[in-house]
Amino acid sequence: MQKYIFILGRNPELSQKELFSYLEARKISYTMEDCSDIACVLEIKNISPEKCIKDLGGIQKIALVIDSLDSLYMGTKNKVRYAISQYGEETKEEDYLRLQLKAYFKKEKIKATIKKSHREQQEYLNPSEAQNLIEIIQYKNYLAKTLAVFNPRDYKFRDTKRPAQRPLHTVSIRLAKILINLSGAKPRDTVLDPFCGIGTIIQEAMLMGMEVIGIDKEKFCIEASKQNLDWIRKEYNCAESYRLIHSDARQVAKYLTSVDCVATEPYLGPFLKKYPTEKEARRIVQELFPLYQEVLYNLIKITKKRIVFITPRFRTTAKKDMPINLAPLLEKKGLSFEGPFLYSSPTSRILREIWVIKK
Ligand SMILES: C[S@@+](CC[C@H](N)C(=O)[O-])C[C@H]1O[C@@H](n2cnc3c(N)ncnc32)[C@H](O)[C@@H]1O
Repeated sequence: MQKYIFILGRNPELSQKELFSYLEARKISYTMEDCSDIACVLEIKNISPEKCIKDLGGIQKIALVIDSLDSLYMGTKNKVRYAISQYGEETKEEDYLRLQLKAYFKKEKIKATIKKSHREQQEYLNPSEAQNLIEIIQYKNYLAKTLAVFNPRDYKFRDTKRPAQRPLHTVSIRLAKILINLSGAKPRDTVLDPFCGIGTIIQEAMLMGMEVIGIDKEKFCIEASKQNLDWIRKEYNCAESYRLIHSDARQVAKYLTSVDCVATEPYLGPFLKKYPTEKEARRIVQELFPLYQEVLYNLIKITKKRIVFITPRFRTTAKKDMPINLAPLLEKKGLSFEGPFLYSSPTSRILREIWVIKK
């Protein structure tokens, strides 16, 4: 058993749920030693941190807890860069650790230079800063060595270089991964997105080894998804199959009899240039609710594991929030659910709520 620290992203509750759901879907047993808004410390038998960090949208770093600095550097270079990242409250031992590290590198005859965070008053390195160096994490009483870091360039590459683009109507790659993992999907499962747009969720699921199905009522979205999925297959040498269906999501049960999981961001209403008035928001909610209800009733018939479904939460000009409450209809169907979990993004005006519906 090894002990790992998982540094959580900016929606910590969601990141925790995602992490546990990811491990449970793969039957990876773990013992939780500590969990906070900053990090989760888990004892796990066998994982590949490099693979986990690629699969998880809500985890920033994975570090191995170490008892001493003895095995800190296993490489062969005699010149290295290193950093100390302090998460949570500062401990008094930081200066002592600095001295210990100096002594360690001296003993190993390695010329080591320390790197500091670019941001003022931030005691830890951002994922992009933490690439290609030795990072020692201090968190509570733990000392850990970073093994894998979220790679923003990889996300950017997939997001901006795929052939079909539609930025205003597309979930981020980060959110796509969170939804897939919350759905409990594991490699070789079938994942359906009944509002697939240009295919972000299904492209990420395909990269994680799942068979995918996308539905969209717009022909150009189906064509865009096809281009993107073909590009992913070629670029990442990925052999998983996909199926695209040009249809209304309400007709899903006509085309499919069974899928393992659903992960989707449905149509969230008309694009809003400014905050809506309460009356406008109420009108959009009244328009969306019957669509969501009909689609969900049909998805329930064909889904084996979980349905992860986003609903919008409208913030009105009067700063009042208007959510869409799915709870009564799920309870009526006797379904249990978790959430809704609020997901906010710095680049989006719309607030999203994520429902994890269990069969
Ligand atoms: C928010 S976008 C989906 C984003 C997408 N999940 C992604 O990964 O990029 C919503 C999509 O739903 C489609 N749509 C709207 N109403 C629909 C319906 N009744 N049935 C199927 N697709 C629909 C729209 O064409 C649009 O592409």
